[in-house]
Amino acid sequence: MKCLKFFKRKLSSIPNKLSKLFYIKKASEYECDLTSFSSKYEVSLNSEFELTEFDEKSLEEMYEQNKNEIDYCHYIILKERTKLPGYHVYGIRSRNHGFYSGYCSVAEKDVKVKESTLNYEIRNENEVYFFDDYIFKKHRSRGFHKFSIYERMKIFAGKSATRAVVIIFDNNKISQSSYKTLGFSKRKTITALKLLFIKMTFCKAYHNKPR
Ligand SMILES: CC(C)(COP(=O)(O)OP(=O)(O)OC[C@H]1O[C@@H](n2cnc3c(N)ncnc32)[C@H](O)[C@@H]1OP(=O)(O)O)[C@@H](O)C(=O)NCCC(=O)NCCS
Repeated sequence: MKCLKFFKRKLSSIPNKLSKLFYIKKASEYECDLTSFSSKYEVSLNSEFELTEFDEKSLEEMYEQNKNEIDYCHYIILKERTKLPGYHVYGIRSRNHGFYSGYCSVAEKDVKVKESTLNYEIRNENEVYFFDDYIFKKHRSRGFHKFSIYERMKIFAGKSATRAVVIIFDNNKISQSSYKTLGFSKRKTITALKLLFIKMTFCKAYHNKPR
């Protein structure tokens, strides 16, 4: 019986393992000019919520609240990121009740970042890179993602970054919708292929940028 369970478990993990060895992923790079940032896109969630930068203690607090949704390895990645120069990890926090509805990250201008699935290095001279956005399931569809994007734009426009950049997988329509609403437009498509240990990445820049 135990043996059967073991083989069932092994079998069910095969598709997941295979999808890491062979894949074609399509994504797009979107940009937004921050020099003309204004409150025209203002997203407010009433004053109950704030975007607050994590330190080790507050990050642990968020992890403890949402252990069922944050994988331990990802928590450690976030924790290491809070210590790296040029990187910021933020949480969307309720001022009144202390709970977190999600988190997100930013790499400052001039920090080189590699998107590992796409095997693609974001060249962000004078651009800030928004990444690792996550809203906890029970808080979705209430505008928290748009709030987190708007707040990051405000922070980094104030720090004289000229552009904000994000990479979104082509199947992630909800995230595309959040970023487009806030003025982001597509500037490049990225296609990544992986065949065992061989990785290839193809990019195409847009001249007449579609939205
Ligand atoms: C993508 C994600 C961050 C969106 O968070 P959210 O707080 O639910 O998004 P918002 O409430 O701010 O809504 C953003 C947009 O998506 C739309 N939307 C939200 N939920 C939707 C749903 N279930 N179906 C269709 N559209 C939806 C909203 O209407 C809004 O579009 P609009 O500006 O045109 O009105 C969240 O689903 C998530 O964490 N997903 C997993 C991780 C992920 O994909 N991260 C993004 C990587 S770039």
